[in-house]
Amino acid sequence: MKAKILVTGGCGFIGSHTVVELMEQGYEVIIVDNLSNSSIEVLDGIKGIVGKAPEFYNVDCLDYVSMEKLFTEHPDIQGIIHFAASKAVGESVEKPLLYYRNNIGSLVNLLELMAEHHVPNIVFSSSCTVYGQPDAEHLPVDETAPVKKALSPYGNTKQINEEIICDQAHANEELRAIILRYFNPIGAHPSALIGELPNGVPQNLLPFVTQTAAGLRKQLKIFGNDYNTPDGTCIRDYIYVVDLAKAHVKAIERMLAKDTKDHVEVFNLGTGKGVSVLELVNTFMAVTGVNIPYEIVSRREGDIEQVWAKPDKANTVLGWKADTPLSEVLASAWKWEKKVRHIN
Ligand code: UFG
Repeated sequence: MKAKILVTGGCGFIGSHTVVELMEQGYEVIIVDNLSNSSIEVLDGIKGIVGKAPEFYNVDCLDYVSMEKLFTEHPDIQGIIHFAASKAVGESVEKPLLYYRNNIGSLVNLLELMAEHHVPNIVFSSSCTVYGQPDAEHLPVDETAPVKKALSPYGNTKQINEEIICDQAHANEELRAIILRYFNPIGAHPSALIGELPNGVPQNLLPFVTQTAAGLRKQLKIFGNDYNTPDGTCIRDYIYVVDLAKAHVKAIERMLAKDTKDHVEVFNLGTGKGVSVLELVNTFMAVTGVNIPYEIVSRREGDIEQVWAKPDKANTVLGWKADTPLSEVLASAWKWEKKVRHIN
């Protein structure tokens, strides 16, 4: 058995896939999740893939007393991967205080407990949202591109969290942090035992596409085709969630091997390839043979025109690459949606 790793938000979309990769590599995993945006059945999915369930605590990271108890019960935790956070951009505009309380309070609690219990290593889930719309000279975007004023309270919490980590690393000699800035995670585990299960009407593109394919939604709305891009629709860097999960294992390995060069390291996690909304929808139709009815509507407020990663630093320093073909990724998302909706 390798080191013991605490994964907050381990029942969520990226969290559950990361737990699987960690357990498959022999790590002992403890999940902390308050199930506010995930379900307990995810543990069965994980067990179905790796053969055993991780230890699970139904605890909110804001609950300092329960978290303290957990840290006391597990004095041998060697690293933390912190996913637990609220993540809906639109909701954050309506309920900013909920986002500031959840996303900032839980990180502050964790960093305090880490200092108190001498847990040195944290991997933090951040987002390419911190770059906003990068200037043309910064596309594809690497880690040196300027952080821009956030367009939503959600984005702001990611920026503030990154700053909190840097300040704490400055103050606490023992702390090592790896900040991972994700581009657009999509897809599901090839087993279709875990995947993405958004609450209500999906805000993100691919879940809306798969739900349309499954007949839950009548028509996809494509938000604008008058952008300054080759086909007029927005461009993103869609990264397979299993590839993304593997990057977390690499980050943990790097920290445990004490290979980190700085107290805080930042990595962009993307494929390096930009894909437009229309390209994604057309590829989905070609791969699955299912038609997606769509209409072009006006732009969505706050959308960024184009952003994709320069993942060279993660490729060379972490020894990691997102290389699953888009067709395979889209097929995995459809397989999962069919399973959830009982479609043959
Ligand atoms: N889109 C549509 N129709 C839909 C949904 C999305 O056309 O029904 C388009 C969007 O306009 C955008 C693209 O598909 O051009 C991708 O949209 P997503 O909502 O899937 O992803 P975003 O890039 O807007 O947002 C994601 C995460 C955020 C994160 C942000 C960082 O969901 O949490 O990346 O840029 F902040």
